Amino acid sequence: MLRCAIVVRIEKQTDPGSYRVESATAVTNGSSESAVYERYAAASREVEPALCCPVEYAAEYLAAIPQEIIDKDYGCGDPTPYVDAGETVLDLGSGAGKLCFMLSQKVGPQGRVIGVDCNTEMLSLARKHQPVVAGTVGYSNVDFRYGMIQDLQLDLARLDEQLDKVPIRTSADWIAARSTEDKLRREQPLIADDSIDCIVSNCVLNLVRQQDRRQLFGEMFRVLKRGGRAAISDIVSDETVPEHLQQDGRLWSGCLSGAFREDEFLEAFAAAGFHGMKIVNRQSEPWQTIEGIEFRSVTVVAYKGKQGPCLERNQALIYKGPFRKIEDDDGHAFVRGDRMAVCDKTFRLLQQPPYEGHFEPVEPREQIPVEQAAEFDCRRSKRRDPRETKGTDYRETVASDDACCGDDGSCC
Ligand SMILES: C[S@@+](CC[C@H](N)C(=O)[O-])C[C@H]1O[C@@H](n2cnc3c(N)ncnc32)[C@H](O)[C@@H]1O
Repeated sequence: MLRCAIVVRIEKQTDPGSYRVESATAVTNGSSESAVYERYAAASREVEPALCCPVEYAAEYLAAIPQEIIDKDYGCGDPTPYVDAGETVLDLGSGAGKLCFMLSQKVGPQGRVIGVDCNTEMLSLARKHQPVVAGTVGYSNVDFRYGMIQDLQLDLARLDEQLDKVPIRTSADWIAARSTEDKLRREQPLIADDSIDCIVSNCVLNLVRQQDRRQLFGEMFRVLKRGGRAAISDIVSDETVPEHLQQDGRLWSGCLSGAFREDEFLEAFAAAGFHGMKIVNRQSEPWQTIEGIEFRSVTVVAYKGKQGPCLERNQALIYKGPFRKIEDDDGHAFVRGDRMAVCDKTFRLLQQPPYEGHFEPVEPREQIPVEQAAEFDCRRSKRRDPRETKGTDYRETVASDDACCGDDGSCC
């Protein structure tokens, strides 16, 4: 069961010992979460230039977006090129909604965009402009939801409703509230399992507490459909950020000291079960440098869908090069030019994005139906003897067909 560090804001009442829950706002005093909350609440009221990292967005989508939203953009990259028409997209930490409003146009009227943010003031700002953008583009396909991105099951608006009915006064109430949370997660999740084609995020993952990051990536994996992808722009560091910088709430909330180290960022996707991670954009010059540590924006695309049974259907893949040898996310090694034995799942997976074009597929002469296929041992890489794909009894001799000679006398 996933758990989230939701802390209810409790207000002391005039009669002694009585407390009223003001809201389920995700705030803890003195923590990085409270620093983030306060900073972005303020940045929703007044533009904060220090939070703006220069980004060149696809201009075609900006005309429909109100100036206030453009001004209160606190992103650091543009994941919109990795989203397709008709898709259901989830924006983690949607802020004032700029990315959602751009994606609304990219996915078109058949697609949907869901923005999740835990800052009520940012949500209000985005929702205020939502009808204006819908009026300009001619349809409404954006939905802003209240939640924490590391706990996409818990709908904080519904939790607020429950807490209004049953306020927390004692620790026993608090224990009961935890059961309410679990029930909401189970029965009315904010984002359902396997429901999203593409997750995007712009400069938000670095703001999530270290202890919640494994759960954050697990949640991203949970909500994506099989074959879905994440396109995440975020700030990364080139070295480990020391503790004293991480303790600085201003640097943390400013998207700096919570930055993932760039290699660990990619590793976090792999640990959650993603495959095919690719850095599709990396600023060559750092956005900021602190104590010699460089902070820059990257955009990474990662895929869900390598899980499942491995079946032997006598298929092979030939890696075309240019490297002498490569290895995929499951440890299968491919030697340039060699026909390597693969299971049915890997055979299909490595012909799809982001691998398409790198391999030559070799099908067996006689197909093995899926229901008759034995288990394939995916733990070791081995070559596929051509006789395995052609059959040991294959003895045909096929002469070249004269018909393939061109009129000019050239022959293939
Ligand atoms: C740097 S701003 C980026 C906003 C937006 N993506 C953009 O490009 O302008 C970070 C946003 O993430 C939200 N945020 C931070 N931590 C969050 C969390 N754990 N769950 C949900 N939202 C979060 C903040 O409230 C804020 O709106």
